[in-house]
Amino acid sequence: MKRFLITFAAMTLVLTACGQNKKEMKTLVAYFSATGTTEAVAKDLAEVTGATLYEIKPEVKYTAADLDWRDKNSRSSVEMQDKNSRPAFVKDLKDADSYDRIFIGFPVWWYTAPTIINTFIEAYGFEGKTVIFFATSGGSTIDKANKDFAAAYPKINWKAGKTLNGASKSDIKAWAEGLK
Ligand SMILES: Cc1cc2nc3c(=O)[nH]c(=O)nc-3n(C[C@H](O)[C@H](O)[C@H](O)COP(=O)(O)O)c2cc1C
Repeated sequence: MKRFLITFAAMTLVLTACGQNKKEMKTLVAYFSATGTTEAVAKDLAEVTGATLYEIKPEVKYTAADLDWRDKNSRSSVEMQDKNSRPAFVKDLKDADSYDRIFIGFPVWWYTAPTIINTFIEAYGFEGKTVIFFATSGGSTIDKANKDFAAAYPKINWKAGKTLNGASKSDIKAWAEGLK
């Protein structure tokens, strides 16, 4: 009987701990997408991780002319040449502090993240939170963004992100689960 009670107590403890773990872990998938490619990946990622989906909306939308990387005077070229540019977004994320893990998605621009991603991070801080990048691109990797942002925001607990070009929902799920 004594042994039974001890086993029962131990099991209750384990189950309670598991339950609390599950309840406490809250995930956000925040993304910026100029032409919809990253958005599609973000939606799948939010679905497979049970996360809240949040779009980082620029206050002024990017037009096709703004996105012309061949024009060195286009809005995106000008912003990306200035490391201090911080394009405004519609700051309406609720309960930002309640998330333990934040995925941030973007299109790779000039081998790194668009500077609106800096604006987003600086708006909420995310100090002590786990942040993981994901991106889509024409072929460039996300390595430079991983490195630059870890150096710029050292109080965030960064986990290496990934480009998810053409990834299926099951690829995305396997990647997200592999991070735990
Ligand atoms: C201004 C600009 C710069 C870009 N720079 C790169 C780059 O350096 N490397 C790359 O592989 N793709 C680059 N691309 C392509 C985008 O990363 C790619 O098309 C992405 O999937 C678009 O995502 P979205 O539809 O979510 O905006 C660039 C696109 C734009 C508009």
